[in-house]
Amino acid sequence: MLYSNTQFVRNVQEFTQQLMQWQGGNKRQLPWKNTTDAYIIWLSEVILQQTRVEQGMPYFLKFAERYPSVSHLANAPDDEVMHLWEGLGYYSRARNMLHTARFIMKELNGVFPQTYAEIRRLKGVGDYTAAAIASFAFGLPYAVVDGNVYRVLSRYFGIDTPIDLPQGKKQFAQLAQQLLYTPNPGLYNQAIMDFGNLQCTPAKPNCSNCPLNGSCVANAAGRIAALPVKSKKLVRKTRFFNFLILHTPSGGVLLRKRMAKDIWENLYEFLLLETDDQLLTHQTIGNHPFIKQLLNHYRLTFRSASGMFKQQLTHQTIYACFFEADIAQPEFFTLLQHFFEIPENEINRYALPKIINTYLANRKNDGAAQQLQLPLL
Ligand code: ADE
Repeated sequence: MLYSNTQFVRNVQEFTQQLMQWQGGNKRQLPWKNTTDAYIIWLSEVILQQTRVEQGMPYFLKFAERYPSVSHLANAPDDEVMHLWEGLGYYSRARNMLHTARFIMKELNGVFPQTYAEIRRLKGVGDYTAAAIASFAFGLPYAVVDGNVYRVLSRYFGIDTPIDLPQGKKQFAQLAQQLLYTPNPGLYNQAIMDFGNLQCTPAKPNCSNCPLNGSCVANAAGRIAALPVKSKKLVRKTRFFNFLILHTPSGGVLLRKRMAKDIWENLYEFLLLETDDQLLTHQTIGNHPFIKQLLNHYRLTFRSASGMFKQQLTHQTIYACFFEADIAQPEFFTLLQHFFEIPENEINRYALPKIINTYLANRKNDGAAQQLQLPLL
């Protein structure tokens, strides 16, 4: 703490008052704001976990239209939900959401739980989401703590306890609860998130025109950019994915479902050869042990090799390239046993990782036998 206790107590009172006043003038309309339907609120909050409002909005609208109630969602096929989620990332959210919808239908007679403890027990619902649903749907006095809240509170109160350590999490959770506007917890929670999204943004916050700038500790100390503090630097792993699109003589391609506990679980992909420190090229792919084995059993004719594609995930950087080849008569002996054949023009029916969709959207769709010149993304 960077300043005296008396000032801290004064700031606690001022914060909530000023924030609620700011909320009165904030006319931001979001489609999940004017409802107390716990299902719709849950849906919006799961979509918004680790996702910006602008990015999540079209997904929310699609889901709310296609599945207007928990029973609609519970009855949806897994693949349909994954397909609708395509491009949003963090696919475990979609899997957990579907699991929870089915749990509510089967075990809770289709009634969304109404207490914080019961909501918190649902799969995929953590402290943040439970507090959001409890306050927005049922008016219960639970303060949300998400990235917005860490940022706003660490700056306003000048707290430099790392937010990714248990001590920091506890301190911020207690402070957030102390600040809650109890006559209307939902309105307060929405206010602090909107404030973090619109005013106290991560980069270039609008401090010169902020109702809290007179008492904001970080503003006075010139420490806005330094807060909040994290103890660990984000460590990113780099991975190299070489995809091989195998075309069958009947105009099909071979696809499989990703089953491992890894990124993109339950999405579909082409044959993937992951390499350690660089991508394969049309010169080196023939030396890959798996390709050698394939060549022992099949006639493979390479059509094309792509340039390099990149996708940045939170903890991983993915580099990918795509090879296309014709394969003669795929009898599905063990090397290809998890693959199935689909007509190439039906590929869009399957939920695919974004990097594969980007490749497919850029390639010549006749799969002409030529070296493709793709952009370096
Ligand atoms: N981020 C997560 N939930 C949100 C909400 N309800 N409003 C604005 N931003 C959010």
